[in-house]
Amino acid sequence: MAKRGAWRTRFGFYLLAIGSACGLGNLWRFPYVVGENGGGAFILIYVFMALAIGAPMLIAELMIGKNSRRSVIVATQQLSQKAGRSFRWAGRFAVILSIVVLSYYAVISGWVLHFMTQFLISVFSPPEIVTAKTNLAALMSNGWLQLMLASAHLLITVVVVVKGVQEGLEKWISYTMPLFVALVVILVVRSFSLPSTPEVLRFLFYPDFSKLTWSSLNHALGHVFFTLSVGFGTLVTFGSYMREEDHPPTAGFRVTLVDTAISLIAVVMIFPVAFQASNVPLTDPALMFEVLPRYLLGIRGGALFGLAFFACLYMAALNASIGLLEVVVSNWVDAQKKMDRGRATWYSGLVALVLTIIPALSSSIFENVRVLGKSLIESLDSLLINWLLPLVALGILWAYNRGTSEKERELSFVDKDKFVSYTMYPHWRFTLQWVAPGVILLGLLLQIIGVFLG
Ligand code: PFF
Repeated sequence: MAKRGAWRTRFGFYLLAIGSACGLGNLWRFPYVVGENGGGAFILIYVFMALAIGAPMLIAELMIGKNSRRSVIVATQQLSQKAGRSFRWAGRFAVILSIVVLSYYAVISGWVLHFMTQFLISVFSPPEIVTAKTNLAALMSNGWLQLMLASAHLLITVVVVVKGVQEGLEKWISYTMPLFVALVVILVVRSFSLPSTPEVLRFLFYPDFSKLTWSSLNHALGHVFFTLSVGFGTLVTFGSYMREEDHPPTAGFRVTLVDTAISLIAVVMIFPVAFQASNVPLTDPALMFEVLPRYLLGIRGGALFGLAFFACLYMAALNASIGLLEVVVSNWVDAQKKMDRGRATWYSGLVALVLTIIPALSSSIFENVRVLGKSLIESLDSLLINWLLPLVALGILWAYNRGTSEKERELSFVDKDKFVSYTMYPHWRFTLQWVAPGVILLGLLLQIIGVFLG
């Protein structure tokens, strides 16, 4: 058997795992989902779900990969020998979900590319030209431009993945991440000096439970899985590259903490600016792309700052996309021994490109196509993240619960040198067995009730 690649350093694993977790989900999606669900109470539920449900499931997926040294399809097939034949499907669904999400993610990454180039232009041109160009509405009405940008993004992603797991990006991520953190902190400090801050803090941190809807629990869970990359098989693939001495519970917990912190920072960064602008609905997926560029163009040095910010955001989006493509490719290569990696990567990119046509044209040619009052891209987001993702994540979890013995689970969780791992083990087991499946099913049930009650 060919030797499977492993991370050269533990730092390499964290870079990729945190890089795949932190992306558009934190900076673009989280703020408007918080807006949709009324602020503080939702944030509270979200943070609780991330730590209580997301982290334990993330750890389980890393373990599936680390113990099997295989990608999600083959790994769940192995688990299904004990768990039952129907669980063979969990892994396949995860891979299908990954490629569909990649195609949709590519469109949003294309928006980031657009703003990045617009800021680049604006560094060299008079402000009045820029204001018109950076207008989000212009981009939204131009479907072909969106398709072109998404294709460019997919091409870049494919080229990076063809170069291999470690060589590709480690270097770049280690440069851009600290820069990005610094830029975000500067923005947070600046936006906190805006007069809207007290109102924003109340909105974000005063939990008003009456603002929650039937779907809020499921929206929180769906977003937890999306942002932590649970249910896609990415973590199984990453786990399969972990070194023997690495401890998935420690890694999983750290990734969850960093990811949740970044989401919280994103909301305190965006909302003061959004409240100040006041004409942008907080529930609008365009929230970040609307308020931030406008705000930045209005301040001194904003063009250069915007260029650096959107360049870093693009790196984050690219990183996350690499994670998604990597799942598809590693599964393909694992399942079909004859398929070579390079070819599998190009084919997967091509499939994603075809799928990307629908979300890319959603706000132009398909503008009038509405599902339950939502645009195509919004409906796709809801279908993928609020409905399918929790189900697939649950399928993988059940395969793990039923396909492994108590002894195996304990062995992979408890580390002799880590006292907390003894104390946490029973909680983790109980959560995987009862709490997580119960909460996921409850979330889906409440959402179904919400659909009927309107
Ligand atoms: N977690 C990423 C984000 O929050 O943007 C999205 C994502 C990346 C999901 C990679 C799944 C994945 F495999």
